[in-house]
Amino acid sequence: MEAYLWIKALHVISVISWMAGMLYLPRLYVYHAGAEPGSATSETFKIMERRLLRAIINPAMIAAFGFGIWMIVLDPDLLSQPWMQVKLASVLVLSGLHGYLSIWRRDFEADRNRKSAGFFRAVNEIPTVIMVIVVIMVIVRPFV
Ligand code: HEM
Repeated sequence: MEAYLWIKALHVISVISWMAGMLYLPRLYVYHAGAEPGSATSETFKIMERRLLRAIINPAMIAAFGFGIWMIVLDPDLLSQPWMQVKLASVLVLSGLHGYLSIWRRDFEADRNRKSAGFFRAVNEIPTVIMVIVVIMVIVRPFV
């Protein structure tokens, strides 16, 4: 049981890092969409976005999945819980958004972004909504 709690603690630590990056990166895109391609500001945003994604968001996502799946392997009955099913479905949406954030980063890197600051402001709400749903599911556990 103690080992399980250490795994859960490492899961929550990696989840916090993943969410911090997923909430920050779209915000950078909001301002980057307003910067002139090729300008010093745009080039600075490219460095910030690349480092945030590669050094924080990607490893944190892998760790969150790793420790989360490890707990499911240790306690497979969790998968039959409706709150865990809603949680994992929400996490799939979050992972899909992660994929799109990577694609949009490459568009910015190649100065071919055509999306507006308003678009990225709307995108920025998605990880917030997912975080609220997931934390309520895993702490309150409705539908038990
Ligand atoms: C990436 C895929 C994920 C998997 C496979 C996963 C799986 C799990 C599992 C199996 C548990 C243990 C539940 C228990 O022991 O009762 C857990 C706990 C937890 N998860 Fe995740 N999770 C994932 C992502 C997330 C995300 C994205 C968040 C938050 C936004 C999150 C927040 C939490 C929290 C706060 C707990 C601790 C709940 C408690 O104190 O019992 N997880 N997760």
